[in-house]
Amino acid sequence: MKKFSPRVLFVLLITFFFLQVLLQAQDDFDRQPPRQVIFTPHDRSDSDPQQVHISLVGKEHMRVSWITDDKHVPSTVEYGKEPEVYNAKATGQNTSYHYFLYSSGKIHHVTIGPLEPSTTYFYRCGGSSPEFSFKTPPPSFPIEFVVVGDLGQTEWTRSTLAHVGSKDYDVFLLPGDLSYADTLQPLWDSFGRMVEPYASQRPWMVTEGNHEIETLPFLSRHGFKAYNSRWLMPYAESGSTSNLYYSFQVSGTHIIMLGSYAEFEAESDQYKWLVNDLAKVDRKKTPWIVVLLHAPWYNTNTAHQGEGESMRKAMEDLLYKSRVDVVFAGHVHAYERFTRIFNNEADPCGPVYVTIGDGGNREGLALTFKKPASPLSLYREPTFGHGRLRVVNETHAHWSWHRNNDSNAVVADEVWLQSLTTSKTCWRDDFDQNLSSPHLKDEL
Ligand SMILES: *[C@@H]1O[C@H](CO)[C@@H](O)[C@H](O)[C@H]1NC(C)=O
Ligand SMILES: *[C@@H]1O[C@H](CO)[C@@H](O)[C@H](O)[C@H]1NC(C)=O
Ligand SMILES: *[C@@H]1O[C@H](CO)[C@@H](O)[C@H](O)[C@H]1NC(C)=O
Ligand SMILES: *[C@@H]1O[C@H](CO)[C@@H](O)[C@H](O)[C@H]1NC(C)=O
Ligand SMILES: [Fe+2]
Repeated sequence: MKKFSPRVLFVLLITFFFLQVLLQAQDDFDRQPPRQVIFTPHDRSDSDPQQVHISLVGKEHMRVSWITDDKHVPSTVEYGKEPEVYNAKATGQNTSYHYFLYSSGKIHHVTIGPLEPSTTYFYRCGGSSPEFSFKTPPPSFPIEFVVVGDLGQTEWTRSTLAHVGSKDYDVFLLPGDLSYADTLQPLWDSFGRMVEPYASQRPWMVTEGNHEIETLPFLSRHGFKAYNSRWLMPYAESGSTSNLYYSFQVSGTHIIMLGSYAEFEAESDQYKWLVNDLAKVDRKKTPWIVVLLHAPWYNTNTAHQGEGESMRKAMEDLLYKSRVDVVFAGHVHAYERFTRIFNNEADPCGPVYVTIGDGGNREGLALTFKKPASPLSLYREPTFGHGRLRVVNETHAHWSWHRNNDSNAVVADEVWLQSLTTSKTCWRDDFDQNLSSPHLKDEL
């Protein structure tokens, strides 16, 4: 990590604690005591890659992102199908950013490919050791997604990640709140190093949470400086103009990453982009649509009540008319699974809603659920853990939630989902996905 003079460190710490007090003052619900924050040190040379992570770019490409302290390291990735035999090489871009008194290292983003599906590739960044490897997703079903929100970098995070890594999967999905750096930028570097063993091996597809905003008066008024520089996602490739919302397609599944902290009203760029994006999905080839966002639209925890409500009012209709299968959210530090819902009522043609904000951050758990339980909420529990969505085929997917304190084989909650394209009541072959049509439901 970068070296700081004692004075700089002092100013950073004061800023940090000041922000902590501000953030804590907004919390008025109970939490289980969090576990300790882990700072992951930098133990490679200045020119060696650190914080390596990969993300999907289109059908056949992967973006490799990493950071070097040495600004002269080239943005190149060498790769191949055998260890230490690199018969392909790609060059990409570099960026960096300043935040208050902090300057980031050189951030490299290199897109490699075309790559074959279900194949292990070995790669090296910037011509420097060590070697990493990843496996590309399968060309078709089955495919398994791991879903974890509000990850942070604590002892709990470590336990969640160990749990995730103990069983194979294809793609990691994170519905917001990554590092909990909360303006203290070296914690972004620490987070990058902590997740590297996982994020360098499987694509990590993320969207932003409130902890990514990090606005500062005058210095970073638009926010997302660290997040957008470090966690570049394939937004341009999906026709979006912002790294805060995008979509991608993998093995018969269309995944939409929405931005809870970008504009979402009907006249906004995000809304217009979403209308177009949904209209482009060919459900014969891509039967599943999965949406991720940070602040849940449905939530019976006492924490963060109503925070997703204006977004729900703006966009729920679009998701419903397109027969989105499932919506994952984070933000609330607990697990909760709902039935299929539209407009606050059980509806067989609405998405299943799941809150999975229990990755392991330093704020601890949101322990209190509202009583009595809503009939829409089928399972709720404040325990750290992760979820797995195994899309078995065109019609069936298996969702499971795994607590950190159980073995991975023990499933605390599980359910089989059927794609809405198989539903006779919700779907017809000549289904008109006209999103401007106001009374689609009545026509069916
Ligand atoms: C880094 O990016 C700048 C432009 O943003 C470019 O001029 C420069 O050549 C890049 N350096 C390397 C080593 O790729
Ligand atoms: C899809 O998977 C489900 C669950 O395993 C199975 O019951 C069903 O027969 C499969 N459908 C097809 C078309 O293979
Ligand atoms: C896991 O932890 C939760 C909450 O701390 C507790 O309620 C549950 O009983 C634990 N389960 C096991 C198997 O230890
Ligand atoms: C969609 O529905 C709206 C309102 O019913 C209608 O004006 C428009 O022409 C329709 N668009 C298409 C492409 O069918
Ligand atoms: Fe959050």
